[in-house]
Amino acid sequence: MGVLASGRGSNLQALIDAGRNANFPAEVVLVLSDKKNAYALERASLAGIRTGHLAPKEEGFYRKMGDEIENYGVDLVCCAGFMRILPPEFVNRFSGRIINIHPSLLPSFPGLHAQKKALDAGVRVTGCTVHFVDEGVDTGPIILQAAVPVLPDDDEKTLSERILTYEHRIYPLAVRLIAEGSVRCIDGVVQYTESAFPESKGFISPVS
Ligand code: GAR
Repeated sequence: MGVLASGRGSNLQALIDAGRNANFPAEVVLVLSDKKNAYALERASLAGIRTGHLAPKEEGFYRKMGDEIENYGVDLVCCAGFMRILPPEFVNRFSGRIINIHPSLLPSFPGLHAQKKALDAGVRVTGCTVHFVDEGVDTGPIILQAAVPVLPDDDEKTLSERILTYEHRIYPLAVRLIAEGSVRCIDGVVQYTESAFPESKGFISPVS
């Protein structure tokens, strides 16, 4: 995996930790950030993973990012709190090989402040989604979702924290499914192989 991150990198950490498990079929080999001081870069360095910072204002930012990913032999690009909209040239270059995690049950509440939008809308259930990336904002074929309750006393912080614990579970799980060849995308819809979820019929809402 090559991970793109702009911030604190807790999802990156979940992917790094998963990759350390001998039974996990993927590992993080490269972390790139558009923010020089992103804590995600520090997490990667601590784990002995190659890091890179690219300044978005630089000419050819996305081309250089793509070159780095390709040169490093990355099979799957994972956006983990990468707060930029990827341009078509980048999405097409890695078509079907870029995934993203978002803190809502997409297609509800795309974009920034998804948890606040859920609170403002008064929904009783929200969650998180891992999806293949297309040219839109938090759009593309959905791989996995976890449903998370909104509790009466929630504020943005408590809800975000509850959702995050599920993000850390479904992101590695989605990577596992892809790496094992258990998901495929047909006409923009993700389908699982029979063996992917022996105990369910494809809808995943992890319970604790
Ligand atoms: C996560 O909640 C992730 O779902 C969200 O940013 C946060 C990054 O946290 N991503 C988006 O909103 C994408 N539209 P992290 O840096 O601790 O992984």
